[in-house]
Amino acid sequence: MKPRIIREGVNWVGAVDWDRRLFDALVPIPDGTSYNAYLVQGAEKTALLDTVDPSMVDQLADHLSGIPTVDYIVAHHAEQDHSGSISRVLQLYPEARVVCTPKCKDMLVDLLHIDGERITSVEDGDSIDLGGRTLRFIHAPWVHWPETMFTYLEEDKILFTCDFLGSHLATSSLYFEKGLIEEASAKRYFAEIMMPFSNMIVKNLDKISSYDVEIVAPSHGPIHDDPGFIIDRYRQWTSGPMKNEVCIPYVSMHGSTTAMVDALVQELVERGVGVKRFELTASDTGSIAMSLVDAATVVIATPTVLAGAHPAAAYVAFLANALRPRTKFVSVMCSYSWGGKTVDQIAAMISNLRAEVLEPVVCKGYPREDDFKQIAQLARVIEEKHREIGIK
Ligand code: FEO
Repeated sequence: MKPRIIREGVNWVGAVDWDRRLFDALVPIPDGTSYNAYLVQGAEKTALLDTVDPSMVDQLADHLSGIPTVDYIVAHHAEQDHSGSISRVLQLYPEARVVCTPKCKDMLVDLLHIDGERITSVEDGDSIDLGGRTLRFIHAPWVHWPETMFTYLEEDKILFTCDFLGSHLATSSLYFEKGLIEEASAKRYFAEIMMPFSNMIVKNLDKISSYDVEIVAPSHGPIHDDPGFIIDRYRQWTSGPMKNEVCIPYVSMHGSTTAMVDALVQELVERGVGVKRFELTASDTGSIAMSLVDAATVVIATPTVLAGAHPAAAYVAFLANALRPRTKFVSVMCSYSWGGKTVDQIAAMISNLRAEVLEPVVCKGYPREDDFKQIAQLARVIEEKHREIGIK
């Protein structure tokens, strides 16, 4: 894909990764992604804002082939998908200096072995004049690493936000189109990458609210010419009301747990409570993460295997604990044949969730009438709890 003009002298020079399906060997990205780099040219100096994943460095080099000088390489974030090609750009432009936060400087030296002598660190609020264009640096820690920062291009009112407000989406569109796929990609990105840092996200949203922003240019996915749209979504996902919905990740070996889940789903639906149900041997963890963004309750259902939870259920509990969703209520349903400590084990694994624990349902063998009564009671309690916190 060729460089694309955002403003005269401000160009997208990144790479679209249509085929990538997994990020960090962890995060499913069913719609690919892009690594957005931007070239900003002033009357006197030129800055490259971020680079691209090293696997696509030749595309970046191609974009830069007619550019005689790059004076600054702004590294918003040390992670390799944005900073992994800095060394190549430094070779292409021996006079260029890397600009980043002090913490990022250390990380670029450690992670990428970039020569510290070629790095200038900037404090929050510092600026660089390119000649009629001013880069203003805004420290924005923990979106999603501690060293991150944004750049505000003052004269053009463009905010470059690196991972923040991005999407894992490969698309031919430069600008974000408000379709279902685009919205889902942005939410998936938030859920998989940003959700654990919701408190810091709120602070950083407040911090950028004083800037007059016409365009938000993140380092993944399309750019936003209606910044209010994605900023409103982030406000909703970090501090808006939760949904009257239960996220039910589950796995079953011989049908007992499935029968429990079937019963719970039916009871909840009859009470007007929404359900997102995920069979864990085939579910995409990104979809589960998206559900965790706004489902008020999570119920993990698992059989007992070797005296504990099924590994797939343990994995989803570990994941939920790491993602730190705003879940209000949590419970466990488990089946067993001769014993085990499954409920205790799952409960210990989700200690980061500041959720009220609802009475678990534990069933010996295939569920009987009493078990179904307990499941109906769990559904009743969930309905009441949701009503108590004002969601319907
Ligand atoms: Fe897109 Fe945190 O790197």
